[in-house]
Amino acid sequence: MTIFNLGSINIDNFYYLSHLPKAGETLSSDRYAKMLGGKGANQSVAAARAGSETCHIGAIGKDGAWCLAVLSDAGVDVSHVAVVPATTGHANICVDREAENMIVLVPGANHELELSHIENAFAQASEDDTLILQNETNLVKETAQLARAKSLRVIYSAAPFDAQAVQDVLPYCDLLVMNEVEAAQLSDALDIATKEIDVPAVLITRGSKGAVWRDQRNGREILSPAFAVIPVDTTGAGDCFIGYVASGLDLGLPVEDALRRASAASAIQVTREGTAEAMPTADEVSEFLIDQG
Ligand code: RIB
Ligand code: NA
Repeated sequence: MTIFNLGSINIDNFYYLSHLPKAGETLSSDRYAKMLGGKGANQSVAAARAGSETCHIGAIGKDGAWCLAVLSDAGVDVSHVAVVPATTGHANICVDREAENMIVLVPGANHELELSHIENAFAQASEDDTLILQNETNLVKETAQLARAKSLRVIYSAAPFDAQAVQDVLPYCDLLVMNEVEAAQLSDALDIATKEIDVPAVLITRGSKGAVWRDQRNGREILSPAFAVIPVDTTGAGDCFIGYVASGLDLGLPVEDALRRASAASAIQVTREGTAEAMPTADEVSEFLIDQG
């Protein structure tokens, strides 16, 4: 069983600040750090550290070679990451002392994927495999279609929110993941309640209020509470949750257990600075859950 992830790879420039800048303000940072990020790369690292065989499909420029080394060290198969003539995607991330963030993205190479990259990656894919997608690369809809044709489980995170992209991908997805803001944006765009969205299952992540999984066919809901921790940097926590849920399902865990492990993993992730590099391992998650009793 393999988890494929068509996803962004970004160079995350972190600026740790006293407060988020206001319009017209020039602000000096307390600290600066450059780390691996991108919603896709973050999810892939989380899934690999959770114990799943994970294959990342994406694109970088020549300046992103070190990103592949980080992915690969985390156990992610990077043989389907293309090196294209564009600069690697990057994100400028401001984080304040309350752990709130603000992100500006430059897609760069993430939008230079070609269909052949995806077809090659899927050559050996089968119905036991999973695909994770978000909205930070091109070819999202086409990849979802290809995955559906091969009967993969398709997990789609509607982030960053794009109403058209969601409508394009929904027919091919098994699980739609959104945070509360994205869920409200989608129900506004479709003019229907979240529980009426035509997809087998919806997972809404609500930060410290926990996550709700809803089986859209029978209305059954599973509430997974969040663990209380003191956050340092919440960037990438949602990606951590998705990577861990995907891995839990891939490894055959009941949904309740997959969600509980994902909640624990995110709780650990927010206590660490950074995104991909802050993802905990399965052992760290197990220890955390034992400590929680
Ligand atoms: O979800 C967090 C991620 O969003 C960051 O790593 C940044 O690269 C942006 O893609
Ligand atoms: Na973090």
